[in-house]
Amino acid sequence: MKLLCVVGTRPEAIKMAPVIMALRNDNAFEVRVLATAQHRHLLDQVFSLFGIAYDYDLDVMTPNQTLPELTAKLITGIDSVLESFNPDMVIAQGDTTTVFTAALAAFYRKTPFAHVEAGLRSRDLYSPFPEEGNRILAGHLAALHFAPTTLAQDNLIREGIDACKIVMTGNTVIDALLETAKQDVEPGFTLPENSRMILVTSHRRENFGEPLKNICNALRSIIAKYDDVCIVFPVHPNPHVRETVYGILAENDRIKLINPLGYEQFVSAMKQAHLILTDSGGVQEEAPALGKPVLVLRQETERTAALAVGATRLAGTDEQDIIDHVSTLLDNPNEYRKMVIGTSPYGDGQASMKIVRAVKDFFHL
Ligand code: UD1
Ligand code: UDP
Repeated sequence: MKLLCVVGTRPEAIKMAPVIMALRNDNAFEVRVLATAQHRHLLDQVFSLFGIAYDYDLDVMTPNQTLPELTAKLITGIDSVLESFNPDMVIAQGDTTTVFTAALAAFYRKTPFAHVEAGLRSRDLYSPFPEEGNRILAGHLAALHFAPTTLAQDNLIREGIDACKIVMTGNTVIDALLETAKQDVEPGFTLPENSRMILVTSHRRENFGEPLKNICNALRSIIAKYDDVCIVFPVHPNPHVRETVYGILAENDRIKLINPLGYEQFVSAMKQAHLILTDSGGVQEEAPALGKPVLVLRQETERTAALAVGATRLAGTDEQDIIDHVSTLLDNPNEYRKMVIGTSPYGDGQASMKIVRAVKDFFHL
Protein backbone atom coordinates (compact mmCIF):
# COMPACT_ATOMS: atom_id res chain seq x y z
CA MET A 1 0.00 0.00 0.00
CA LYS A 2 1.29 3.46 -0.89
CA LEU A 3 0.89 6.06 1.85
CA LEU A 4 1.54 9.79 1.55
CA CYS A 5 2.18 11.62 4.84
CA VAL A 6 1.74 15.39 4.46
CA VAL A 7 3.45 17.73 6.93
CA GLY A 8 3.63 21.52 6.97
CA THR A 9 4.48 23.10 10.33
CA ARG A 10 6.50 22.40 13.48
CA PRO A 11 3.72 20.76 15.53
CA GLU A 12 2.73 18.53 12.61
CA ALA A 13 6.35 17.40 12.25
CA ILE A 14 6.58 16.58 15.96
CA LYS A 15 3.28 14.69 15.98
CA MET A 16 3.77 12.93 12.61
CA ALA A 17 7.40 11.87 13.13
CA PRO A 18 6.49 8.87 15.36
CA VAL A 19 3.71 7.89 12.91
CA ILE A 20 6.01 8.07 9.88
CA MET A 21 8.69 6.03 11.66
CA ALA A 22 6.18 3.37 12.79
CA LEU A 23 4.62 3.09 9.32
CA ARG A 24 8.08 2.83 7.72
CA ASN A 25 8.93 -0.04 10.07
CA ASP A 26 6.07 -2.06 8.60
CA ASN A 27 6.85 -3.59 5.23
CA ALA A 28 3.17 -3.60 4.25
CA PHE A 29 3.65 0.06 3.34
CA GLU A 30 5.58 2.24 0.96
CA VAL A 31 5.63 5.55 2.86
CA ARG A 32 6.52 8.87 1.26
CA VAL A 33 6.68 12.21 3.05
CA LEU A 34 5.49 15.43 1.49
CA ALA A 35 6.74 18.58 3.23
CA THR A 36 4.68 21.57 2.21
CA ALA A 37 7.16 23.67 4.24
CA GLN A 38 4.43 26.04 5.34
CA HIS A 39 7.10 26.49 8.02
CA ARG A 40 10.64 26.21 6.70
CA HIS A 41 13.17 26.42 9.47
CA LEU A 42 10.90 25.08 12.23
CA LEU A 43 9.93 22.06 10.12
CA ASP A 44 13.49 21.25 9.05
CA GLN A 45 14.68 21.41 12.69
CA VAL A 46 12.23 18.70 13.77
CA PHE A 47 12.76 16.37 10.81
CA SER A 48 16.51 16.52 11.19
CA LEU A 49 16.12 15.64 14.91
CA PHE A 50 14.08 12.54 14.05
CA GLY A 51 16.26 11.68 11.01
CA ILE A 52 13.38 11.86 8.52
CA ALA A 53 14.06 13.01 4.93
CA TYR A 54 11.36 14.45 2.67
CA ASP A 55 10.43 12.77 -0.61
CA TYR A 56 8.67 15.90 -1.89
CA ASP A 57 9.13 19.50 -0.81
CA LEU A 58 6.71 22.24 -1.95
CA ASP A 59 8.72 24.95 -0.16
CA VAL A 60 5.68 27.27 0.02
CA MET A 61 6.73 29.56 2.87
CA THR A 62 7.04 33.23 2.03
CA PRO A 63 7.26 36.08 4.54
CA ASN A 64 3.88 37.07 5.97
CA GLN A 65 1.92 34.75 3.70
CA THR A 66 -1.86 35.36 3.61
CA LEU A 67 -4.27 32.47 4.09
CA PRO A 68 -5.75 32.63 0.54
CA GLU A 69 -2.27 32.74 -1.07
CA LEU A 70 -1.11 29.85 1.08
CA THR A 71 -4.25 27.78 0.46
CA ALA A 72 -4.03 28.25 -3.31
CA LYS A 73 -0.36 27.23 -3.46
CA LEU A 74 -0.92 24.21 -1.24
CA ILE A 75 -3.91 22.73 -3.03
CA THR A 76 -2.22 22.76 -6.43
CA GLY A 77 1.15 21.66 -5.03
CA ILE A 78 -0.29 18.73 -3.10
CA ASP A 79 -2.37 17.68 -6.10
CA SER A 80 0.69 17.49 -8.33
CA VAL A 81 2.27 15.03 -5.86
CA LEU A 82 -0.94 12.99 -5.70
CA GLU A 83 -0.86 12.79 -9.47
CA SER A 84 2.71 11.51 -9.64
CA PHE A 85 2.74 9.17 -6.58
CA ASN A 86 -0.91 8.09 -6.74
CA PRO A 87 -1.11 6.95 -3.07
CA ASP A 88 -3.74 4.61 -1.63
CA MET A 89 -4.12 6.89 1.37
CA VAL A 90 -3.14 10.41 2.48
CA ILE A 91 -2.37 10.95 6.17
CA ALA A 92 -2.02 14.30 7.95
CA GLN A 93 -2.28 15.59 11.50
CA GLY A 94 -4.12 18.47 13.10
CA ASP A 95 -5.68 21.69 11.91
CA THR A 96 -3.30 23.84 9.89
CA THR A 97 -3.90 25.05 6.34
CA THR A 98 -1.61 22.24 5.16
CA VAL A 99 -3.92 19.66 6.72
CA PHE A 100 -7.15 21.15 5.38
CA THR A 101 -5.71 21.36 1.86
CA ALA A 102 -4.29 17.82 2.08
CA ALA A 103 -7.78 16.54 2.96
CA LEU A 104 -9.37 18.53 0.14
CA ALA A 105 -6.77 17.51 -2.47
CA ALA A 106 -7.22 13.84 -1.47
CA PHE A 107 -11.00 14.20 -1.69
CA TYR A 108 -10.80 15.65 -5.21
CA ARG A 109 -8.91 12.51 -6.26
CA LYS A 110 -11.20 10.21 -4.26
CA THR A 111 -8.20 9.04 -2.26
CA PRO A 112 -9.00 8.11 1.39
CA PHE A 113 -7.76 10.69 3.88
CA ALA A 114 -6.79 9.65 7.43
CA HIS A 115 -6.87 12.36 10.07
CA VAL A 116 -4.47 12.17 13.01
CA GLU A 117 -5.63 14.12 16.11
CA ALA A 118 -9.23 14.11 14.92
CA GLY A 119 -12.21 15.55 16.77
CA LEU A 120 -10.75 18.50 18.66
CA ARG A 121 -13.35 21.26 18.91
CA SER A 122 -13.53 24.62 20.66
CA ARG A 123 -17.06 25.19 19.30
CA ASP A 124 -16.11 28.72 18.29
CA LEU A 125 -15.44 28.83 14.55
CA TYR A 126 -13.26 31.93 14.96
CA SER A 127 -11.18 30.72 17.88
CA PRO A 128 -8.67 29.33 17.25
CA PHE A 129 -8.72 30.87 13.80
CA PRO A 130 -8.45 29.38 11.24
CA GLU A 131 -7.78 26.05 13.00
CA GLU A 132 -11.33 25.31 14.18
CA GLY A 133 -12.61 25.63 10.60
CA ASN A 134 -9.69 23.64 9.22
CA ARG A 135 -10.21 20.66 11.51
CA ILE A 136 -13.98 20.55 11.00
CA LEU A 137 -13.52 20.59 7.22
CA ALA A 138 -10.70 18.04 7.24
CA GLY A 139 -12.70 15.83 9.61
CA HIS A 140 -15.72 15.75 7.36
CA LEU A 141 -13.59 14.71 4.39
CA ALA A 142 -11.79 11.93 6.28
CA ALA A 143 -12.28 8.21 5.77
CA LEU A 144 -10.50 7.36 9.02
CA HIS A 145 -10.24 9.41 12.24
CA PHE A 146 -7.59 8.90 14.92
CA ALA A 147 -9.07 10.50 18.03
CA PRO A 148 -6.62 11.42 20.80
CA THR A 149 -9.19 11.23 23.64
CA THR A 150 -12.70 9.92 24.26
CA LEU A 151 -13.85 13.57 24.39
CA ALA A 152 -12.59 14.03 20.82
CA GLN A 153 -14.24 10.77 19.78
CA ASP A 154 -17.55 11.99 21.26
CA ASN A 155 -17.26 15.29 19.36
CA LEU A 156 -17.00 13.37 16.07
CA ILE A 157 -19.94 11.11 16.86
CA ARG A 158 -22.03 14.17 17.81
CA GLU A 159 -21.26 15.60 14.34
CA GLY A 160 -22.59 12.47 12.68
CA ILE A 161 -19.30 10.73 11.89
CA ASP A 162 -19.77 6.96 11.67
CA ALA A 163 -18.33 5.44 14.89
CA CYS A 164 -16.74 2.57 12.95
CA LYS A 165 -14.47 5.09 11.17
CA ILE A 166 -13.07 6.40 14.48
CA VAL A 167 -10.18 4.82 16.37
CA MET A 168 -9.19 6.08 19.83
CA THR A 169 -5.40 6.11 19.72
CA GLY A 170 -4.17 8.74 22.19
CA ASN A 171 -2.13 11.67 20.94
CA THR A 172 1.09 10.96 19.04
CA VAL A 173 2.68 13.98 20.74
CA ILE A 174 3.12 11.79 23.82
CA ASP A 175 5.04 9.22 21.71
CA ALA A 176 7.37 12.01 20.54
CA LEU A 177 7.64 13.59 23.99
CA LEU A 178 8.47 10.40 25.91
CA GLU A 179 11.20 9.46 23.43
CA THR A 180 12.67 12.96 23.43
CA ALA A 181 12.46 13.49 27.20
CA LYS A 182 14.77 10.47 27.74
CA GLN A 183 17.66 12.55 26.44
CA ASP A 184 19.28 15.03 28.78
CA VAL A 185 20.21 18.00 26.63
CA GLU A 186 21.12 21.52 27.73
CA PRO A 187 18.30 23.92 26.85
CA GLY A 188 20.85 26.50 25.63
CA PHE A 189 20.27 29.34 28.12
CA THR A 190 21.35 30.02 31.69
CA LEU A 191 19.05 31.10 34.49
CA PRO A 192 19.75 33.19 37.59
CA GLU A 193 20.47 30.89 40.54
CA ASN A 194 17.50 29.74 42.65
CA SER A 195 15.00 31.40 40.37
CA ARG A 196 11.58 30.10 39.40
CA MET A 197 11.38 29.99 35.62
CA ILE A 198 8.18 30.78 33.70
CA LEU A 199 8.32 29.43 30.15
CA VAL A 200 6.15 31.37 27.69
CA THR A 201 5.05 30.75 24.10
CA SER A 202 2.43 32.53 22.01
CA HIS A 203 1.57 32.46 18.33
CA ARG A 204 -2.23 32.23 17.87
CA ARG A 205 -3.62 34.55 15.22
CA GLU A 206 -6.54 35.64 17.44
CA ASN A 207 -3.97 36.88 20.01
CA PHE A 208 -2.24 39.22 17.52
CA GLY A 209 -2.48 42.88 18.57
CA GLU A 210 -4.10 43.79 21.91
CA PRO A 211 -4.19 40.31 23.50
CA LEU A 212 -0.48 39.72 22.88
CA LYS A 213 0.30 43.23 24.14
CA ASN A 214 -1.66 42.42 27.31
CA ILE A 215 0.28 39.18 27.73
CA CYS A 216 3.62 41.03 27.41
CA ASN A 217 2.54 43.78 29.82
CA ALA A 218 1.45 41.12 32.32
CA LEU A 219 4.87 39.44 32.04
CA ARG A 220 6.58 42.78 32.74
CA SER A 221 4.43 43.27 35.87
CA ILE A 222 5.13 39.73 37.09
CA ILE A 223 8.89 40.28 36.79
CA ALA A 224 8.56 43.56 38.73
CA LYS A 225 6.45 41.88 41.45
CA TYR A 226 8.60 38.75 42.05
CA ASP A 227 12.36 39.14 42.20
CA ASP A 228 12.95 35.36 42.24
CA VAL A 229 11.09 34.82 38.95
CA CYS A 230 12.61 34.76 35.47
CA ILE A 231 10.96 34.40 32.08
CA VAL A 232 12.14 32.37 29.09
CA PHE A 233 10.19 33.24 25.95
CA PRO A 234 11.15 31.47 22.68
CA VAL A 235 9.54 33.88 20.23
CA HIS A 236 7.69 32.35 17.26
CA PRO A 237 9.07 33.54 13.86
CA ASN A 238 5.72 34.93 12.71
CA PRO A 239 6.51 38.66 12.21
CA HIS A 240 3.24 39.68 13.92
CA VAL A 241 4.42 37.96 17.08
CA ARG A 242 8.01 39.21 16.97
CA GLU A 243 7.11 42.88 16.46
CA THR A 244 4.82 42.96 19.49
CA VAL A 245 7.01 40.91 21.83
CA TYR A 246 10.26 42.72 21.04
CA GLY A 247 8.40 46.07 21.04
CA ILE A 248 7.22 45.64 24.66
CA LEU A 249 9.64 43.35 26.43
CA ALA A 250 13.29 44.27 26.86
CA GLU A 251 15.94 41.61 27.41
CA ASN A 252 17.51 41.60 30.85
CA ASP A 253 18.98 38.94 33.13
CA ARG A 254 15.45 37.85 34.14
CA ILE A 255 13.71 38.12 30.74
CA LYS A 256 15.16 35.91 28.03
CA LEU A 257 13.68 36.46 24.58
CA ILE A 258 15.14 33.74 22.41
CA ASN A 259 14.65 32.15 19.01
CA PRO A 260 12.45 29.05 18.84
CA LEU A 261 14.24 26.15 20.47
CA GLY A 262 14.88 22.82 18.83
CA TYR A 263 12.39 20.22 20.13
CA GLU A 264 14.94 18.51 22.40
CA GLN A 265 15.92 21.86 23.92
CA PHE A 266 12.30 22.91 24.36
CA VAL A 267 11.43 19.66 26.15
CA SER A 268 14.39 20.27 28.41
CA ALA A 269 13.16 23.84 29.04
CA MET A 270 9.71 22.50 29.96
CA LYS A 271 11.36 20.13 32.45
CA GLN A 272 13.21 23.08 34.04
CA ALA A 273 10.16 25.36 34.13
CA HIS A 274 8.26 26.11 37.32
CA LEU A 275 5.21 27.20 35.36
CA ILE A 276 4.24 27.44 31.66
CA LEU A 277 2.17 30.18 30.03
CA THR A 278 1.11 29.38 26.48
CA ASP A 279 -1.51 29.58 23.76
CA SER A 280 0.05 26.55 22.02
CA GLY A 281 -2.00 23.42 21.51
CA GLY A 282 0.89 20.97 21.71
CA VAL A 283 2.35 22.47 24.87
CA GLN A 284 -1.01 22.06 26.67
CA GLU A 285 -0.76 18.34 25.87
CA GLU A 286 2.91 17.86 26.74
CA ALA A 287 3.32 19.83 29.96
CA PRO A 288 0.87 17.76 32.06
CA ALA A 289 2.87 14.62 31.21
CA LEU A 290 5.96 16.36 32.64
CA GLY A 291 4.08 17.48 35.77
CA LYS A 292 4.19 21.17 34.83
CA PRO A 293 1.19 23.46 35.43
CA VAL A 294 -0.02 25.39 32.38
CA LEU A 295 -1.92 28.66 32.27
CA VAL A 296 -3.58 28.85 28.85
CA LEU A 297 -3.44 32.32 27.27
CA ARG A 298 -6.81 31.97 25.55
CA GLN A 299 -10.50 32.40 26.37
CA GLU A 300 -11.30 28.76 25.59
CA THR A 301 -9.49 25.58 24.61
CA GLU A 302 -10.21 22.42 22.66
CA ARG A 303 -7.67 20.60 24.92
CA THR A 304 -10.37 20.03 27.55
CA ALA A 305 -8.97 16.73 28.86
CA ALA A 306 -6.08 18.55 30.58
CA LEU A 307 -8.46 21.20 31.89
CA ALA A 308 -10.74 18.49 33.30
CA VAL A 309 -7.94 16.86 35.34
CA GLY A 310 -6.80 20.27 36.61
CA ALA A 311 -3.38 20.25 34.89
CA THR A 312 -4.21 23.40 32.92
CA ARG A 313 -6.30 26.50 33.66
CA LEU A 314 -7.66 29.15 31.33
CA ALA A 315 -6.02 32.48 32.19
CA GLY A 316 -7.39 34.39 29.17
CA THR A 317 -5.64 37.41 27.70
CA ASP A 318 -6.63 40.19 30.08
CA GLU A 319 -3.51 41.69 31.71
CA GLN A 320 -4.83 41.65 35.29
CA ASP A 321 -6.36 38.16 34.94
CA ILE A 322 -2.99 36.77 33.86
CA ILE A 323 -1.18 38.49 36.75
CA ASP A 324 -3.79 37.12 39.20
CA HIS A 325 -3.57 33.55 37.90
CA VAL A 326 0.23 33.58 37.98
CA SER A 327 0.30 35.17 41.46
CA THR A 328 -2.04 32.50 42.83
CA LEU A 329 0.33 29.77 41.71
CA LEU A 330 3.50 31.58 42.80
CA ASP A 331 2.13 32.54 46.23
CA ASN A 332 0.20 29.42 47.15
CA PRO A 333 2.02 26.04 47.10
CA ASN A 334 -1.28 24.16 47.62
CA GLU A 335 -2.80 25.72 44.51
CA TYR A 336 0.40 24.89 42.62
CA ARG A 337 0.44 21.27 43.81
CA LYS A 338 -3.17 20.76 42.67
CA MET A 339 -1.97 21.30 39.08
CA VAL A 340 0.96 18.87 39.19
CA ILE A 341 -0.57 15.75 37.69
CA GLY A 342 2.41 13.93 36.16
CA THR A 343 0.36 11.54 34.03
CA SER A 344 -1.09 12.41 30.67
CA PRO A 345 -4.74 12.42 29.69
CA TYR A 346 -3.43 12.31 26.11
CA GLY A 347 -2.02 8.80 25.98
CA ASP A 348 0.76 6.44 26.92
CA GLY A 349 3.21 6.79 24.04
CA GLN A 350 1.63 3.98 21.98
CA ALA A 351 -0.54 6.10 19.66
CA SER A 352 1.58 5.54 16.54
CA MET A 353 1.44 1.76 16.92
CA LYS A 354 -2.36 1.96 17.20
CA ILE A 355 -2.45 4.09 14.06
CA VAL A 356 -0.38 1.53 12.11
CA ARG A 357 -2.79 -1.23 13.22
CA ALA A 358 -5.82 0.85 12.23
CA VAL A 359 -4.40 1.65 8.77
CA LYS A 360 -3.75 -2.08 8.21
CA ASP A 361 -7.31 -2.89 9.33
CA PHE A 362 -8.63 -0.28 6.91
CA PHE A 363 -6.94 -2.12 4.02
CA HIS A 364 -7.76 -5.58 5.50
CA LEU A 365 -4.05 -6.38 5.85
C1 UD1 B 1 0.87 27.99 11.75
C2 UD1 B 1 -0.55 27.41 11.66
C3 UD1 B 1 -1.11 27.21 13.06
C4 UD1 B 1 -0.15 26.40 13.92
C5 UD1 B 1 1.23 27.07 13.91
C6 UD1 B 1 2.23 26.22 14.67
C7 UD1 B 1 -2.04 27.98 9.79
C8 UD1 B 1 -2.83 29.03 9.13
N1 UD1 B 1 -1.40 28.33 10.92
O1 UD1 B 1 0.77 29.31 12.29
O2 UD1 B 1 -2.34 26.53 12.97
O3 UD1 B 1 -0.65 26.33 15.24
O4 UD1 B 1 1.69 27.18 12.55
O5 UD1 B 1 3.40 26.96 14.93
O6 UD1 B 1 -1.97 26.88 9.28
N2 UD1 B 1 7.76 31.88 9.66
C9 UD1 B 1 9.14 31.88 9.45
N3 UD1 B 1 9.84 30.69 9.66
C10 UD1 B 1 9.23 29.54 10.04
C11 UD1 B 1 7.84 29.56 10.26
C12 UD1 B 1 7.12 30.73 10.07
O7 UD1 B 1 9.72 32.88 9.11
O8 UD1 B 1 9.91 28.49 10.20
C13 UD1 B 1 6.99 33.14 9.44
C14 UD1 B 1 6.77 33.44 7.96
O9 UD1 B 1 6.86 34.82 7.77
C15 UD1 B 1 5.35 33.02 7.73
C16 UD1 B 1 4.71 33.39 9.05
O10 UD1 B 1 5.70 33.03 10.02
O11 UD1 B 1 4.77 33.72 6.64
C17 UD1 B 1 3.41 32.72 9.37
O12 UD1 B 1 3.43 31.33 9.13
P1 UD1 B 1 2.02 30.52 8.98
O13 UD1 B 1 2.35 29.08 8.79
O14 UD1 B 1 1.12 31.17 8.02
O15 UD1 B 1 1.30 30.76 10.40
P2 UD1 B 1 1.78 30.47 11.86
O16 UD1 B 1 1.42 31.64 12.70
O17 UD1 B 1 3.18 29.98 11.89
N1 UDP C 1 8.15 23.75 20.56
C1 UDP C 1 9.50 23.65 20.19
N2 UDP C 1 10.30 24.78 20.32
C2 UDP C 1 9.82 25.95 20.80
C3 UDP C 1 8.45 26.04 21.14
C4 UDP C 1 7.65 24.92 21.00
O1 UDP C 1 9.95 22.60 19.76
O2 UDP C 1 10.60 26.92 20.91
C5 UDP C 1 7.29 22.55 20.38
C6 UDP C 1 6.40 22.18 21.55
O3 UDP C 1 7.07 21.29 22.45
C7 UDP C 1 5.21 21.52 20.89
C8 UDP C 1 5.12 22.22 19.54
O4 UDP C 1 6.38 22.87 19.34
O5 UDP C 1 5.42 20.14 20.64
C9 UDP C 1 4.00 23.20 19.53
O6 UDP C 1 4.07 23.99 18.41
P1 UDP C 1 3.27 25.33 18.26
O7 UDP C 1 3.02 25.91 19.60
O8 UDP C 1 4.02 26.15 17.27
O9 UDP C 1 1.92 24.87 17.56
P2 UDP C 1 0.50 24.35 18.11
O10 UDP C 1 0.74 23.14 18.93
O11 UDP C 1 -0.14 25.46 18.86
O12 UDP C 1 -0.25 24.06 16.84
